[in-house]
Amino acid sequence: MKEKLAKIREEILKQIDASENLDKLNEVRVSALGKKGALTELLKSMKEVAPQDRPKVGQMVNEVRAEIETALETEKAKLEDRVMEARLKNEVIDVTLPAKKNSVGHRHPNTIALEEVERIFVGMGYEVVRGPEVEKDYYNFEALNLPKDHPARDMQDSFYITEDILMRSQTSPVQARTMQKNEPNAPIRMIAPGRVYRRDEYDATHSPMFTQVEGLVIDEGITFADLKGTLELFLRQIFSEDVKVRLRPSFFPFTEPSTEVDISCVMCHGKGCKVCKGTGWLEILGAMVHPHVLEMSGYDPKKVSGFAFGMGVERIAMLSYGVDDLRLFYDNDMRFLRQF
Ligand code: PHE
Repeated sequence: MKEKLAKIREEILKQIDASENLDKLNEVRVSALGKKGALTELLKSMKEVAPQDRPKVGQMVNEVRAEIETALETEKAKLEDRVMEARLKNEVIDVTLPAKKNSVGHRHPNTIALEEVERIFVGMGYEVVRGPEVEKDYYNFEALNLPKDHPARDMQDSFYITEDILMRSQTSPVQARTMQKNEPNAPIRMIAPGRVYRRDEYDATHSPMFTQVEGLVIDEGITFADLKGTLELFLRQIFSEDVKVRLRPSFFPFTEPSTEVDISCVMCHGKGCKVCKGTGWLEILGAMVHPHVLEMSGYDPKKVSGFAFGMGVERIAMLSYGVDDLRLFYDNDMRFLRQF
């Protein structure tokens, strides 16, 4: 009996020690102390023990039972600790890890160039005005001295929606819109940026859609010198202080006299290179508002005069950033766009 008890004790304590989780430990408890457990079975065989020995044996069994219960408790606490530890380890937050990055993106290079143009003109007291991209033939052509059968319309053949409505081919219609909205002869100092559309090739220097900035200044006594000074000031700020400006006679139906404005090549500084096609000069913008254009929009050419200009924003961005293909601005290639 004594040996049997010792064996059971040893066996159970070994099983307790070997339990690797709470379920297993519970199984050990049942098999040791349960109704059909080893110790219970042992007590049932008490009748085989001599009566005078029973109290002693009973006491021994109870001691073993107490020992096993303590061992079970200790092991249970140990296993619970281990479960808690594992949970803590799993759920730990490393506060030193860098936070997840939200990619924010940035403005398109063409927008950056346009905002730079706007910043310079706003600095000179200009207002930024916007006009519709779907425009009336009247504003796009007629009010600019280009009647229906004027041959100069060919240069700006556009996308027509109806006979009288088209995708504007230039930002110049904002000139007539602004004058007509104003009191007659009210001074104007504005730029009008926006997209324009022309039936055109899609190659390194042409696109059927591009961005222009129109400029218009009207007041008493505005002269050609104001045009030259303003554009020089602008071009020096957007490119560099040492840029040289050259005016050439040109033709636009809505300006008189008309000029083309060239700058010394910003790539080769006038020596001649691929960008300026060896001439050392780059064509940038093009003038004095035609008296008839003033008249048609309710301004009196005897009282006021003005100048206007129009320039391509992509062109400016290309020269500023040294980009040699216009299409890169529209292709949405992230490898290109990320560089700005
Ligand atoms: N609108 C003209 C063009 O697109 C440019 C221009 C604007 C010329 C203003 C003179 C004055 O070609």
